Amino acid sequence: MVLRVDNLDTKELDKKDLTTLHPWEYLEYRGTGGRTFIEKSKGIYLYDKDGRKLIDGPGGMWNVNIGHGVDEIADAVSNQIRTMSYASPFTESTSVRAIFAERIAEYAPGDLKRVFFTSGGSAAVDSALRFVMFLNNVRGLRNKKKIIGRQDGYHGSTYLGASCSGKERDKNNFDFASDIVHHISAPNPYRKDDSVTLDEFCDAKVKELEDKILELGPENVAAFIAEPILASGGVIVPPKGYHKKTSEVCRKYDVIYISDEIVTAFGRLGHIFASEKYFDFTPDIIVAAKGITSGYVPCGAVLISEKLMAELDNKERVIFSNGFTDSGHPVAMAAANASLTYMEEHNLLEHVQEVGPYFQEQLRTLEDLPIVGEVRGEGLMAAVECVGNKDKKDPLNLSYEIGSRINEHCQDLGLIVRPLFSTCVMSPSLIITKSQIDDLVGILRKGIVMATEDIKKEGLY
Ligand SMILES: Cc1ncc(COP(=O)(O)O)c(C=O)c1O
Repeated sequence: MVLRVDNLDTKELDKKDLTTLHPWEYLEYRGTGGRTFIEKSKGIYLYDKDGRKLIDGPGGMWNVNIGHGVDEIADAVSNQIRTMSYASPFTESTSVRAIFAERIAEYAPGDLKRVFFTSGGSAAVDSALRFVMFLNNVRGLRNKKKIIGRQDGYHGSTYLGASCSGKERDKNNFDFASDIVHHISAPNPYRKDDSVTLDEFCDAKVKELEDKILELGPENVAAFIAEPILASGGVIVPPKGYHKKTSEVCRKYDVIYISDEIVTAFGRLGHIFASEKYFDFTPDIIVAAKGITSGYVPCGAVLISEKLMAELDNKERVIFSNGFTDSGHPVAMAAANASLTYMEEHNLLEHVQEVGPYFQEQLRTLEDLPIVGEVRGEGLMAAVECVGNKDKKDPLNLSYEIGSRINEHCQDLGLIVRPLFSTCVMSPSLIITKSQIDDLVGILRKGIVMATEDIKKEGLY
């Protein structure tokens, strides 16, 4: 049976939708409708139930990297299902999995050549953290278990991953592993004191990590986890050299550096992995997901260095008892292989390197608008932050979500925005052209102007 939705009106769909609890749902607004039902997608566009064409500004969730509706992925996935739909990763292996693992290991920096597959990003983060603790137990370092994360970081929705995240807004009413996980501040140059240079600011942030390791005791600190660019924390790009220097601090104290590349891997910055190619450092572990299959099928991966693995290989009576029914699922592997092949055959990395600067440049023209404090980003990921006062850089009336208002106007004009409080995130599919970037920026400008008029009328600005 083909599921038909065109005979249902939005009210009926809203009612059915109430059966689900959405991620990050504001419970006070449950049942009030307002969600756009997306029913089709192609290229950089989504189409809603009424056939309205919308640019997918956030590229799904920064994951639809090769664009929507690619036939090669549909064929690879359906062929895989017809040929062999599932085999246990605990006891068997599959050629799609072995081939994909080797392909991404070739792209990985340094000696990060051992790949563990998961069912998504959070599971990859959790597996990386569990791996680190497991490793330290095997090494006999039973106290070396503490993890350092950063404010404004995001590392997923498992208990440990969420504990490593540092977004204040997400801390309400949940419990966290606060005995294990500790935080340092985010390296956000926009909010640095004007009296310090960028280099001084960077050094202070690196020192903060070292101080935190010394405060906790190096013998107790297992890992530092960081996104190369803090993504949903507001696309915070650290000063040049930050990752290299923090990775050196980690090495000095035998602290494992986990680079959370769940957003940045698979092309968003013009490279399959950004840590080495874009940020000039080699972590000990990389976690990836999202763009690994371009969002067609859920999948995640942990890439571990041979150096760490060497401490574990051929250990008697040691089992790495961590894994998922869907670790390296053949359908996910088929989608991942096909997505990577598509990227290679269509030179998408080179395309991002070419259009990325144009995307950033065009978005930065929005800084002339009175409520836009800063436009920042790299490659094809960016954020437009709205402020109440450009000099004071105060986030625009935090209780009032300007981002949602901009999104509403932009959707009426043909663009989906991902609002994060007073910040709008843009991370379109990597296939976006320069003229499509012009469309996106043009609509966003209009949406911001309209939202500004609203809040002026309502006396909020
Ligand atoms: C940097 C980062 N890490 C981890 C995750 C969690 O991944 P998932 O939602 O696939 O579990 C996300 C998701 O947005 C992310 O942005």
